[in-house]
Amino acid sequence: MDFTYAHKDTSGGERQTPTAKFNIPRITPAIQAVREEAFKAEIPVSDDETLCFLGTLLTALQPKEILELGTAVGVSGGFMLGTCPEARLTTVERDENFYNSAKRNFKTFGVSERVVQILGDAGEEITKLRRGYDFVFLDCAKVQYVKYLPALKNLLRSGGVLVADDILLFGYVTGERETPKKRKMLVEHVKEYIAAATGDEELITTVINIGNGLAVSVKK
Ligand SMILES: C[S@@+](CC[C@H](N)C(=O)[O-])C[C@H]1O[C@@H](n2cnc3c(N)ncnc32)[C@H](O)[C@@H]1O
Repeated sequence: MDFTYAHKDTSGGERQTPTAKFNIPRITPAIQAVREEAFKAEIPVSDDETLCFLGTLLTALQPKEILELGTAVGVSGGFMLGTCPEARLTTVERDENFYNSAKRNFKTFGVSERVVQILGDAGEEITKLRRGYDFVFLDCAKVQYVKYLPALKNLLRSGGVLVADDILLFGYVTGERETPKKRKMLVEHVKEYIAAATGDEELITTVINIGNGLAVSVKK
């Protein structure tokens, strides 16, 4: 596979939460095969804990319309659709190689008819979408999360849920690990997102220490 993007942080090693050993998702063999290939190629796809949490939450919520920012090769998208048999997924990816791989993978997972894939920049694409999403999985450029928040809030229906991934950034955001110089700006932007989401009167938000950290917001 030839990909130009990899986000794996190499400055501090992998981060394991104390709960990681309990939180094992149920993943179909087809999705797991793609995921393992992705790990080998250092393509950024969701870790076990994040998928386990998404699986639990989505099983309860059964959203009809899901929006994902950051398709990569379709692992989380395929997993969410597998968990929600009635759902449709709109997913945005700016890397053409990933977009094409995801297209093939969605076919393999048997969910293509329920996916609208968009090749483009998430910040631009979210301004073109219509309100009415039940669930948003925000998993692309972390530095932009805070900029995306107003548009994502608009796209969510009342009662809709927004999950932002990688919110604790390998422990830099909580101070567990010292932030490397090159990550300082990113950490500041992610902290701004947390402040905006937790301080927003229209959202109820909890930051949870699962995987690489998730911010879970519900729109009132
Ligand atoms: C962490 S990966 C997504 C992983 C995927 N959600 C999963 O768990 O299988 C982040 C993805 O966001 C994409 N991305 C980064 N910035 C973006 C942007 N501004 N617009 C659209 N996609 C972007 C990257 O190319 C990458 O594929």
